[in-house]
Amino acid sequence: MAAWTQVAMSHSICFWSIVMKLNLMILLLFITSFSSCLNDRVSEFALTKTEDSDLKEENRKELVEEEEEELDSEDLDVFYPTNQWQRVQPGQAVPAGLHVQLNLQTGEKLAKLPEDSHGKGDMKDPSKSKRLGPIDVDPGSFTTQELKKALAKMKKSTKTEDPSKEKAHQDDVRRRFRAIETLKEEFRELRLQMETDAEIMFKLINKFNSSASTLEEKIRALYDLEYYVHQVDNAKDLLFFGGLQLLINGLNSTEPLMKEYVSFVLGAAMSSNPRVQVAAIEGGALQKLLVILATDQSLAVKKKALFALSSMLRHFPYAQQQFLKLGGLQVLRDLCTEKGTENLHVRIVTLLYDLIVEKMLHKESHDDSDQVRERVQQYSHVALVPAIVEQGWCAIIPNLLRMPGHDSREKVLKMVHVLLDYCRESYAQDHSLNHMLGLLRQEYEELAAEEQKEGDGDGYFKELLSSINSIAQELK
Ligand SMILES: *[C@@H]1O[C@H](CO)[C@@H](O)[C@H](O)[C@H]1NC(C)=O
Ligand SMILES: *[C@@H]1O[C@H](CO)[C@@H](O)[C@H](O)[C@H]1NC(C)=O
Repeated sequence: MAAWTQVAMSHSICFWSIVMKLNLMILLLFITSFSSCLNDRVSEFALTKTEDSDLKEENRKELVEEEEEELDSEDLDVFYPTNQWQRVQPGQAVPAGLHVQLNLQTGEKLAKLPEDSHGKGDMKDPSKSKRLGPIDVDPGSFTTQELKKALAKMKKSTKTEDPSKEKAHQDDVRRRFRAIETLKEEFRELRLQMETDAEIMFKLINKFNSSASTLEEKIRALYDLEYYVHQVDNAKDLLFFGGLQLLINGLNSTEPLMKEYVSFVLGAAMSSNPRVQVAAIEGGALQKLLVILATDQSLAVKKKALFALSSMLRHFPYAQQQFLKLGGLQVLRDLCTEKGTENLHVRIVTLLYDLIVEKMLHKESHDDSDQVRERVQQYSHVALVPAIVEQGWCAIIPNLLRMPGHDSREKVLKMVHVLLDYCRESYAQDHSLNHMLGLLRQEYEELAAEEQKEGDGDGYFKELLSSINSIAQELK
């Protein structure tokens, strides 16, 4: 595991540095040169950077759409050189390696292909020389958006072009860029590593699935798998070889360790990964996780199941709606009033707090795009706060202030605060809440004073104190 970790990490650093080094021309050349496998991987990687952050906010419907649909076929504004002098329009990207003339008086720029690049004269045909245009463009001027477009265009053109022409063209480009051989070597290594991640995962899944594996071997496989699925692309690979459903089925196992580690892997795979979240809820993971949380299981199992549940619910209003429908909130409430599960209480409160705030933030969003409006629409079906009030959480949450840790109290205070408008009546009649706030105020006044003495005027304790005071003030 440790060795793999290091290898994978150094490779991914290597990958990015190579990507940085590579200019677009070479990247595109390789896409055409290598197998379709690499082709897909490279374009996927090249698109990952912007895509990941977008994905988190995408709604469910859009998630199912293929990446390619995101790409549009609009051409780049690129200067297509021929062996005649042509005027370069303002704003056009000029391919590298051209002869360029600049008229200093008018600022007009003319460009054409250099004479010696024509090989055996086959470049006389302007329709052929045209094809060099999008390949050789100076990478310095590219944005991610343009890169996407160029890749989309590239995919299209490789589909339609005659392979022998393509080969001749590549040879031509290769002659002009010597350094390519070195880069190719680096790329081969990279490709090896790319296959390795998926391969390792495939082996781990097989180990886990094999009836010949011992329980210990299966747990070991899950433990290792958890490391890989943190990466968004790896987690998506789980969907391809049926690994995800296998994991979900593993939640049914009678072995507590199995349930624990399967939850662990699922939680990691779903975390900030909408595609996996969608597939997991379709695979029945939500029900199974709730069953684990509602039945007699060890704390370790429940802890991991709660982790997986949180990963499934966050930023996924559809799952939140199903969670309420399936009685998930009651399951969590029972956990929160159960003795011996205190470790889980603060996690549950944090989850519910985050879900409430998540919805509020969407409501307040002034962004009027269709996407945001649709999200608001989806969240409107998640009646979380009313369910919380109805199920008596207004009385449960203040009790959790008895927890000793500052961090836990901070989380509970936040929750008490966010529910103020909805639980006001219950809070006001809750004498133990009143008493508790009094005790906490005393404690944090002292701590805040010490903090100030040590020179930290705006410290943590002062903040907790002001939170307590503001709640008490509101309840007067
Ligand atoms: C798991 O094993 C079963 C039977 O051994 C097989 O049919 C199935 O395809 C395997 N699943 C995966 C995802 O490898
Ligand atoms: C898993 O358990 C659920 C009930 O919790 C049951 O409906 C389902 O059939 C079980 N699946 C497997 C594969 O054992």
